[in-house]
Parts: sequence; structure tokens; C-alpha cells
Amino acid sequence: MTSSNAAPADRSFLPGPVLLLGAPGVGKGTQAKALMAAYGIPQISTGDILRANISKGTTLGKMAKALVDQGTLVSDDLVNRMVADRLSQPDTRHGYILDGFPRTLNQATWLDAQLASDSSVLPVVAISIVVDYDQLLRRITGRRISPAGRIYNIYSNPPKSPGICDVDGSVLVQRPDDSEAVFTERMKTFQSQTAPVIEHYRKQGRFEEINGDQLVEQVTAAIDASLKRLRTSKQ
Ligand code: AP5
Ligand code: MG
Repeated sequence: MTSSNAAPADRSFLPGPVLLLGAPGVGKGTQAKALMAAYGIPQISTGDILRANISKGTTLGKMAKALVDQGTLVSDDLVNRMVADRLSQPDTRHGYILDGFPRTLNQATWLDAQLASDSSVLPVVAISIVVDYDQLLRRITGRRISPAGRIYNIYSNPPKSPGICDVDGSVLVQRPDDSEAVFTERMKTFQSQTAPVIEHYRKQGRFEEINGDQLVEQVTAAIDASLKRLRTSKQ
């Protein structure tokens, strides 16, 4: 998928802490990777950290597996501790993109308190990506991923050879929670637990909503413009 609208790499702009919010399949991971490349700040995906623990068979992974497989949330306490650990690493100093966190009001309150306790950290900015239900279902059921975490889609962003990663030649797989049945559960969880988080950040200000139903590069450019507006506004 190509477009001339891609956001230019801008490593002079340090966006600080950024939240990427939105429903399953809306493009959080895809956009977080693009922003990470553009700004040189890390993507912190709670879903990716949980899946890595599940595949390694760690204690955390064993606790999380059934919940992730059925599309419900892992406990706030576990996820908050996981995020605290990741945020303590030095590569987060100039900012980071939180992908899939916070997704309950408890997680949001916890994060707000963490950030408020450190005056050297810029206030958080939140971007909510929006795509309609039918498109989300198509994105979820068409998604294929490489073991290294590269994201493809058999409809919108297929690899050059079916089932094979363009970059390292590995075999692409489907996430176990990418069935229509589990997607339905994930959407219910999103509506009941995460939609209130989006309203929380909308009310706080430093928040913008982005239309995710555009080419990947157009969404990236829209987020880039939004982050620059949010960082220069006086809110
Ligand atoms: P997580 O991994 O965060 O899953 P999710 O929120 O359901 O989001 P996805 O990763 O499915 O979608 P995405 O928005 O990243 O979309 P992507 O860029 O891949 O969480 C999984 C589970 O972990 C949860 O259900 C829960 O159990 C647990 N968990 C995680 N965080 C937690 C937390 N904080 N608290 C408690 N539990 C937690 O794109 C999707 C597809 O669309 C791809 O194929 C992509 O190529 C394609 N695509 C992307 N953009 C476009 C575009 N513009 N046009 C066309 N196709 C596109
Ligand atoms: Mg993701």
C-alpha cells in the first residue's frame, strides 16, 4: 500500500507520552510502528508484551493466556505493573507511544497519577482512531503477522508472496484471537471498558480523533499533524 501522503520522518520533534486509543483492528499497532520510525521513540504495546509472555510460557503468560484468547482483559494490577516496568527503561525518556493502554478507567487513573508524579514528563496527549465495525472485522480476519511482529493484511496490505514475510522470509501466522467470534467479544469489552477511557481523555483536552479509514500513510500523516497541533496548543 503506497501513497505520496506519508508523514516525513521528523526526529527533531519529540512528542512526549502519546496514547493511541481505539477498537480492535483500528490500526494502533500499524500506526505506532510508523510513529516509532518517524520520531525515534518506542512503541509500548501491552498486547505485544502479553503475547511475548504467552509464547515464552512465563508465569505472566500463563495467567494471561485464557483471557487474551477469549477477548477479555487481563487484570489492571498485572498490566499496570507490566507498564511501570517498561516505562522505567531509559529509551522512554523523550517519549513513547502507548498502544492498547490504558483500556480501563482504573488503568487511566493509575497512568495519570504516574505521569503527574514526575514534573519532567510532558502531559500526555491522546489520539483516538475511528473505523466502522464492518471494516474492523475485515481487518481482524484478514490480518497476518510475522514472528517479529510485522503486520500484514490479506486484503489491504498483502505480502509479495502469500503467507511469507517480505522482510525476513518467515511464515506469517494468524493471531488466535483474530476469529470473528473472539473479535465480537473484544468489541463488547471495548464498548464497556475502553470507550469510557476515550471519553476520559476527550474531557481532559489534548485529545483528537482521527479517521482511520484512509490509506495507512494518510492516517500516519493525520496523526503526525494532530500531535504537532496538540503539543503547540496551550490546553
Ligand atoms: P491488543 O493486542 O492490544 O489487541 P487490540 O486492541 O484488540 O488491537 P489489535 O492489535 O487487534 O489491532 P490494532 O489496532 O493494533 O490494529 P493493527 O495495526 O494490527 O490486545 C490483545 C489482548 O491483550 C486483549 O484482548 C486483552 O486480552 C489483552 N490486553 C492488551 N492490553 C491490555 C490492557 N491494557 N489491559 C488488559 N488487557 C489487555 O491493524 C489491524 C489490521 O488492519 C492489520 O492487518 C493491518 O495491516 C490492517 N490495517 C491497519 N491500518 C489499515 C488501514 N489504514 N487501511 C487498511 N488496513 C489497515
Ligand atoms: Mg495491535
